[in-house]
Amino acid sequence: MSVQIRRIAVNTGGGDAPGLNAVIRAVVLAGEELGWEVYGIEGSYDGLFLEDGVSRLDRMAVRGITHLGGTILGTTNRGNPLRWPVTQSDGTVSYEDRSDQVIRALADRGIDALVAIGGDGSLAIAHELFQKGLKVVGVPKTIDNDLAATNLTFGFQTAVETATDAIDRLHSTAQAHQRVMVVEVMGRNAGWLALFSGVAGTADVILIPEIPYDIEAVREKIESRYHIGRRGFAMVVVAEGAYPKGGQPHFKRRDGGQVRLGGIGEEVAAEINQLTGRETRTMVLGHLQRGGSPNAYDRLLSLRFGAAAVNLIRDACFGCMVALDPPDVLAVPLGQAISRVKTVPLESDVIHTARSLGICLGD
Ligand code: F6P
Repeated sequence: MSVQIRRIAVNTGGGDAPGLNAVIRAVVLAGEELGWEVYGIEGSYDGLFLEDGVSRLDRMAVRGITHLGGTILGTTNRGNPLRWPVTQSDGTVSYEDRSDQVIRALADRGIDALVAIGGDGSLAIAHELFQKGLKVVGVPKTIDNDLAATNLTFGFQTAVETATDAIDRLHSTAQAHQRVMVVEVMGRNAGWLALFSGVAGTADVILIPEIPYDIEAVREKIESRYHIGRRGFAMVVVAEGAYPKGGQPHFKRRDGGQVRLGGIGEEVAAEINQLTGRETRTMVLGHLQRGGSPNAYDRLLSLRFGAAAVNLIRDACFGCMVALDPPDVLAVPLGQAISRVKTVPLESDVIHTARSLGICLGD
């Protein structure tokens, strides 16, 4: 089946990830190849409610952006249009569903279909808008790699590389001082980033949300590192969503009352120091992992995803997301992609590799 398309829009929602600009460029170029006009919406859906928040993106507008980090359209992980905060006269905040306004704002601009680039939150919004009649397709983005129905999200491989590079650098200073270095990495409630960067960066201990840890097992592994040769040191990689057996993940309150994972690295370091007496330091990699240029793998994946998303629109495959099913990029229903958090399977090869290498996973 095909539909008459003249004009499409693209937006980027949620936390940024390396590769967003490459997807945007591919959407523009592939759209133009089909004779369509492509428009960019600023700040996720926010631009739809601004005078100048939607602009034409042509070949020239996306020239030289493939390798750039961030997003030329801007993004936000606040202000969900389906739960839009409205401050009442008495100062209280209530929430309204602006989905009809979103759909109308697109129709008023003559936009026939939308490419929504995002993680689980943004794609859940896209899914709801699809159910309300919007012609939308999704592109899976997140450094966390926690979206179901795709083997990989773009941005993940670059973040693994950034984290691995940081772990390498921290190795030499840990070794010089014979310290225990605890590195906290992102990933929300999935351990992909910690596991992959930890194994690649030859960590001694890797703690992930999928395996609640026993601090005694961690202590034993660290002590063993000081008993092989003279100048012992240890490298511990902790996912921000990791937590002890019988415990809970750590949350931090941020500006505006928003709550985010964080703080487990400090806690693990304090416990290690108390139990072993070893000098211990903590490093939270934080948003460093989201910044910078996408690596070649992510650039290619992003370009493939962007071009494939345009083809989904051409083929009227709305309500779908492009997904990597190696070696192919194919379409999966958005509902399937957001149905669950994709965590690391305990029987996966990288978990087995870590165990074979003697890495302590906290159990
Ligand atoms: O989902 C990507 C991610 O970077 C997570 O790994 C992290 O927990 C979260 O976003 C941080 O979000 P914020 O940009 O609000 O600090």
